[in-house]
Amino acid sequence: MARQQVLVARAVFPEVVERLRAHFDVDDNPQDSIFTKAELIGRLQGKAGAFTTGSERIDAEVLAACPQLRVVANMAVGYNNFDIPACNAAGVLATNTPDVLTETTADFGFALMMAAARRMAESEHFLRRGEWNRWSFDMFTGSDIHGATLAILGMGRIGQAIARRGALGFGMKVIYHNRSRLAAEQEAAVGARWVDKATLLAEADHLVLVLPYSAASHHAIGAAELALMKPGATLTNVARGGIVDDAALARALRERRIAAAALDVFEGEPQVHPDLLTVPNVVLTPHIASATVATRRAMADLAADNLIAALTGGVAPTPINAAELATRRA
Ligand code: GLV
Repeated sequence: MARQQVLVARAVFPEVVERLRAHFDVDDNPQDSIFTKAELIGRLQGKAGAFTTGSERIDAEVLAACPQLRVVANMAVGYNNFDIPACNAAGVLATNTPDVLTETTADFGFALMMAAARRMAESEHFLRRGEWNRWSFDMFTGSDIHGATLAILGMGRIGQAIARRGALGFGMKVIYHNRSRLAAEQEAAVGARWVDKATLLAEADHLVLVLPYSAASHHAIGAAELALMKPGATLTNVARGGIVDDAALARALRERRIAAAALDVFEGEPQVHPDLLTVPNVVLTPHIASATVATRRAMADLAADNLIAALTGGVAPTPINAAELATRRA
């Protein structure tokens, strides 16, 4: 029987590509080109599976043009690049990589929040520009993390891991807002209390965003929400671009309506809103919250595990829409 074909849409660890080659004919992309939609459709012809990252959009048009596709395995926990209702309609299993990146991403979110609060990037740029010529009592004074109020919007696995760091490691008061409330014992375990969104914004010393991107969370933080925050507050986004209205945030930062921000994700990335590049009180990183060698390898292995299991008669370990597909088949 002819071997099944899969596409590995971006460059990834060669060992992981080799694992896939043990099971499939693999068309890979070691040059790491970013495919246009037409190129993606072209490369997916004849493929039963695709190993994707956030840069490949799998929508109804792609699915209609690739009727032989059965599995799309994202090397990311977020999957807003997948149109899940379209995958359901096409009978395509979608998978992601939860859990393996939780602690690493929480570490980075916490680091970004601290960098914003203590003005690390801004003061480093000052030093590199050669402007440091004396000590002064108020040079780059920021705000404390310990004992402050950590406000988390979204309370999935990463939100809970950040809450634990704040409550247990830094003695922070932790509040959160999420559509679904944690059970009382989960709240106690992470030391967090549910509040409504307006209270979250008003009480935050440090607001951290860890909610998935969807039409419902588009610009969840815009001018109106920023106006509710304290002037000394910071905002950190390790979730997805588009959750924050970047233009409104740049304005609020420039006018010091909030003290500082730290952003790892941007609307339209890798483009960054030009106003964010010129405000001093924002830390900017290029979508690297999960980027440790060990975690990126674990994510790639999990995406490969999903692809292999789903295409060889096994059970994909971390499916997104298995239940919906089963219901449709029943
Ligand atoms: C990264 O952004 C991810 O969703 O894993």
